[in-house]
Amino acid sequence: MNQVNKKQNPIRPVSIAPMLDWTDRHCRYFHRLLSPNILLYTEMVTTGALIHGDRERFLRFNKEEHPIAIQLAGSNPSDLAECSIMAEDHGYNEINLNCGCPSDRVQKGQFGAVLMENPDIVAKCIESMQKATSLPITVKCRIGIDEQDSFEFLDHFISIVKQAGCAHFIIHARKALLTGLSPKENRSIPPINYPRAEEIKNKYPELTFSINGEIKTPAQIKEHLKTFDSVMIGREAYQNPYILYEIEREIFGTSEDTLLSREQVARAMIHYIEKQIDKHDTPINAVTRHMMGLFKSQKGGKKWRQVLSTLPHEKGITPAQVIEEALKRTST
Ligand SMILES: Cc1cc2nc3c(=O)[nH]c(=O)nc-3n(C[C@H](O)[C@H](O)[C@H](O)COP(=O)(O)O)c2cc1C
Repeated sequence: MNQVNKKQNPIRPVSIAPMLDWTDRHCRYFHRLLSPNILLYTEMVTTGALIHGDRERFLRFNKEEHPIAIQLAGSNPSDLAECSIMAEDHGYNEINLNCGCPSDRVQKGQFGAVLMENPDIVAKCIESMQKATSLPITVKCRIGIDEQDSFEFLDHFISIVKQAGCAHFIIHARKALLTGLSPKENRSIPPINYPRAEEIKNKYPELTFSINGEIKTPAQIKEHLKTFDSVMIGREAYQNPYILYEIEREIFGTSEDTLLSREQVARAMIHYIEKQIDKHDTPINAVTRHMMGLFKSQKGGKKWRQVLSTLPHEKGITPAQVIEEALKRTST
């Protein structure tokens, strides 16, 4: 069954990373307008939230978001199996297991990066998830944690999880420090180590490896694609989303004629926001907060941000008024 699904899910050369509080469905819809081909990941969703919380809210996505992967956080094999079935029923294209998040909250739940110390648990989770669903199951991990940062440590993790049937690893090429650093600091300290990820890739040519961490430009992506099967972009896609236009053109080879300008994307979001208000009573700001970077490094980019940070909060304002005013101020 997995074979069939892998055929249906060809590896996309670029994806946008799971980012908690950032890559929600509104953000992903916006990213999809900019890039028709990139693979999108949800924010991390804990098994507890899906099993005991408002499941529909966590699983909901727009059909335009395909291809879309859900990232699960958990360490209980049967809970993960249950959540995998939910994800498949909702139409996700891939399920990713979080073995890379270092936050305290995540460590207390015994999932995320701490799982790298327990590859046998991860293997049990993967086996159980694969039995429950025909979707590809992938793992996102670091290159090590704390003092355990040798090649052998990463190799041991990959070899055990591979035996359980995981064929695709996304490597954030930096070790996680589980004490003393905030999650934010853990994204810049210690320095990135691509060669370590490359060593692993070379050892397991039969596996698929995506590389992640501080990759920002199409030129860097092209360079990494010489070694890795795909590249995952995090902060740059969020903070400078129009880079997706360049990625679409340069990596996916999409014709400029079919891609949208910044203004076209902004106007396409008006209709989306109106629909969200109608269906879910969504505040305008819940969507526009993800669009702040659309005019980054452009003349008027600061005015765009200013309007988007203030106008959506005014009583009675409509999405069209917010976007049109922001566009007007940006161009003058
Ligand atoms: C705001 C924010 C939230 C994040 N949340 C998650 C998450 O839910 N799951 C995860 O695996 N990684 C998470 N990450 C890490 C990113 O997926 C990525 O690995 C990291 O930012 C490095 O990539 P970059 O240098 O391209 O940003 C988060 C990063 C940011 C900035």
